Amino acid sequence: MNQPQNKIVVVTGANAGIGRETARGLAQLGHTVVMVCRNVQAGEVVRQEIVAQTGNQAVDLMKCDLSSQKSIRQFAAGFTAKYPRLDVLINNAANFDHTLKRPTLTEDGAEVIFATNHLGPFLLTNLLLETLKASAPARVLTVASKGLMTYPFLSIEFDNLAGQKKFSTQHTYYHSKMAQVMFTFDLAERLQGTGVTVNCIRVTNVQIDKGRYEYITGWKRWAYEIKRSKAITPAQMAAAYIQLAVVPEFEAVTGKYFDEHCKEVKAYKPAYDRAVWKRLWAVSAEMTHVA
Ligand SMILES: NC(=O)c1ccc[n+]([C@@H]2O[C@H](COP(=O)([O-])OP(=O)(O)OC[C@H]3O[C@@H](n4cnc5c(N)ncnc54)[C@H](OP(=O)(O)O)[C@@H]3O)[C@@H](O)[C@H]2O)c1
Repeated sequence: MNQPQNKIVVVTGANAGIGRETARGLAQLGHTVVMVCRNVQAGEVVRQEIVAQTGNQAVDLMKCDLSSQKSIRQFAAGFTAKYPRLDVLINNAANFDHTLKRPTLTEDGAEVIFATNHLGPFLLTNLLLETLKASAPARVLTVASKGLMTYPFLSIEFDNLAGQKKFSTQHTYYHSKMAQVMFTFDLAERLQGTGVTVNCIRVTNVQIDKGRYEYITGWKRWAYEIKRSKAITPAQMAAAYIQLAVVPEFEAVTGKYFDEHCKEVKAYKPAYDRAVWKRLWAVSAEMTHVA
């Protein structure tokens, strides 16, 4: 099957940062972009800006809170009712909320960072899988972090999924990102032969909107400013997302881990443990009620 010139691309977390620049870049290239945001007011401001700037009217906004399974199911049902196909799903949205000092449970009973960054993309991807398969060749892009390089021994803590034994935003965030890396490798194998590829991109230090860390004071604020001064722009990172999402060169590539230059990189050894992939899949399916 030929791949359509103008793809239908879903980008989660498209109202800010890298997701916003990915939506903008894809719209500039003439693709249909479905911006998936939990805050529709913020999303609408960005959507209108992108339409005005690119002249591409095919930029849509749909609501979804990735920490809520009900919201994800509503979005998936709404999307499949509205769109005939899905060429690319970019699971970009993530929670890295430094104000969380202890585990916070979602309405589904999961810890909110793990819920947003792993269970949400897991459920969303599964709900859209039949549409992706029917649209093949199609692509799924998941998002991890270069910061995982500081966790060489990190694997899935099945006895700590709700942060009940150990919790900090940082640890729980990287744990959820490791889960996404493993989910990528596992799903890519499960989808062999379907024409749906699954890859993961490792985001480097990227400038975040200043409003994101206004609440941070003292030396931590200073450290953030230093980090920001050395970071690349969201648009530079988005350029890599866009390459992996739509460039023909990557159409058949699957199960890989890429850096911000779209160069294949290796994750640490624990990420390749198939027994852990299978257990993570089973646990995630149970927690999200995926058949
Ligand atoms: N920036 C970096 O240095 C860096 C480094 C490593 C990895 N990453 C990864 O890169 C991706 C994009 O990050 P970014 O830098 O662009 O961050 P960002 O500017 O903070 O954007 C995060 C996006 O995710 C959305 N989001 C958060 N929780 C959500 C939820 N429950 N439901 C739906 N959307 C939700 C946010 O929506 P709201 O505006 O409503 O909060 C926002 O649109 C993330 O996966 C992040 O983990 C970033």
